[in-house]
Amino acid sequence: KQSLIIDCDPGVDDATGLLTAFASSDLDLLAVTTVGGNVSAEKTARNARILRQIAGREDVPVFVGAERPLRREPAGAGEFHGAEGLGDLAPFEPEAPVGEGTAAEAIVRLVMERPAGSVALIVMGPMTNLALAMRAEPRLAGHLGPVVVMGGARSEGGNITASAEFNIWADPDAAAEVFASGCRMIVLGLDATHQVRATEDRIRTIEAVDTASARASAAMLRFSQRTEREIVGWDAGPLHDPCTVAWLLKPELFELAPCRIDVETESDLTRGHTAVEFRVEAATAKHFWATKADADGVFALIAERLGAGQ
Ligand code: BDR
Ligand code: CA
Repeated sequence: KQSLIIDCDPGVDDATGLLTAFASSDLDLLAVTTVGGNVSAEKTARNARILRQIAGREDVPVFVGAERPLRREPAGAGEFHGAEGLGDLAPFEPEAPVGEGTAAEAIVRLVMERPAGSVALIVMGPMTNLALAMRAEPRLAGHLGPVVVMGGARSEGGNITASAEFNIWADPDAAAEVFASGCRMIVLGLDATHQVRATEDRIRTIEAVDTASARASAAMLRFSQRTEREIVGWDAGPLHDPCTVAWLLKPELFELAPCRIDVETESDLTRGHTAVEFRVEAATAKHFWATKADADGVFALIAERLGAGQ
């Protein structure tokens, strides 16, 4: 079983990713850590606990993370996720509490107490928690398994500014530290996630699944379908964060290219831009940029997993 920590800011697309992971019995999900991003840190932690309860996975601890980026003002993407972060799913106070200690402390402890390379880390939000964990434990980068990130923009430009994707833009300083840390990173940026469109047919494959997790996921996919139409004018918007979980479960759904990624932290104009350099030695490359995604395969996998869960 692959041991795994998910760091996230749910978030309607984080939610489908989390529910898919909760329902996957071949993953040993050690913890979910949360961060301020799409909505406040308080709300993302509550939302992770709500999703955990829907999935019947109270065995997985949730640790609260950073309220704000390393040196920027907290942003927010409520227009795409609803004021509470889960679309129009009415929030409630979940039964099980959060775990003791911060997200960064939990990441350090859970990774360092296991064999080197054995724990994968998925990051679905700003990278603040991971940067703080690396600052606290300099050996962490060398001890982590693959770090699977949703973030970054290259070919099509950004989604929050002309040159940056939201997660990297929200805390570019944290992202720059993590990309420079030497850990192995699988990066699912907009080049890949914009290929994974939530078309009407694909949403219906999730709606056809009769579990509480699938119903919650489908409700949020419908919410996104409306907001993407209203705000961006897209008939079928991209499903970003679940691509991370899909890569871990079925890497053959994606094509990756070895590269080196650097993040812009100085310029206001291009803040959070990911410079993806493909002219690297493949044998020693640490970063892998996703260029292609099999969208039908990703949705089929999500539907299958949600059907196997609660
Ligand atoms: C990313 O930004 C957030 O709004 C989504 O949850 C996703 O992680 C896409 O750019
Ligand atoms: Ca997210």
